[in-house]
Amino acid sequence: GEKITVATVQARKGGPPLTMVTAYDTVMATIADRAGVDLILVGDSVADNVLGFSDTLSATVEIMIHHTAAVARARPRAMIIGDMPWLSYHISLEESVRNAGRLIREGQAEAVKLEGGRKRLPVIEALLAAEIPVMGHLGLTPQSVRVMGGYRVQGRRLEAARALVEDARALAAAGVFAIVLEGVPTIVARAITRLVPVPTIGIGAGPHCDGQVLVFHDLLGWHLDRRKAKFVRQYARLGEAAVSALQSFFADVRSGAFPSEGESYRMEEEEERAFEA
Ligand code: KIV
Ligand code: NA
Repeated sequence: GEKITVATVQARKGGPPLTMVTAYDTVMATIADRAGVDLILVGDSVADNVLGFSDTLSATVEIMIHHTAAVARARPRAMIIGDMPWLSYHISLEESVRNAGRLIREGQAEAVKLEGGRKRLPVIEALLAAEIPVMGHLGLTPQSVRVMGGYRVQGRRLEAARALVEDARALAAAGVFAIVLEGVPTIVARAITRLVPVPTIGIGAGPHCDGQVLVFHDLLGWHLDRRKAKFVRQYARLGEAAVSALQSFFADVRSGAFPSEGESYRMEEEEERAFEA
């Protein structure tokens, strides 16, 4: 298939739903691409899904470049979105453009994503002025976990819902090519999807968005003993499958069933006879 670009994504507004998953390394990107995904997000959720941190605040530009570059080495047909980590776009416009530029140049991301509404308009405009495509992210924005006081659905009250709609309109008017809506009531996501001219991609935002995104580890059940969020549909239990595969290997080692002759090497026949003598 043809490479997915900003233009492809924009053209899907109101069309066949866009698919997006996170990926954090080359193998995951190859798997997602083989499955036919449209967009691969190298999320700052690498911090809590791969690196053992308890939230995304520990992700840095260096970490994001490291993982984005690994994803890019898969050369996916899918578009690669590099997530801008906390504090990489909050300090100054100059630092923000430099950091986004590093995700593009060193990480080979094809666009960046950042969290927040109208207060991010200056930084979004600065990135677009530097020719960097931007994806917005509204609602339950995990980098705001401290000020939200936990991971809470956003826009449940009338005023907050209206503010989200205004944020989405402002982002679209500024020129973002798509908007992730996370953790918002279905009817708010539906209203935003109807009102903005760019695709919305939902996670915990109901069925009316122009696309859906889930975290790779969540949908594949990679984590052992982790509580599943309401909005996650788990399509496999790879964590448990991996434990049981490893247990089979260890059992075969202990019983002597591994390795077999077919899994071992031989000398040339004559040399072997001479060697044994
Ligand atoms: O980092 C991430 O995984 C994300 C998605 C949940 C949208 O930002
Ligand atoms: Na993120």
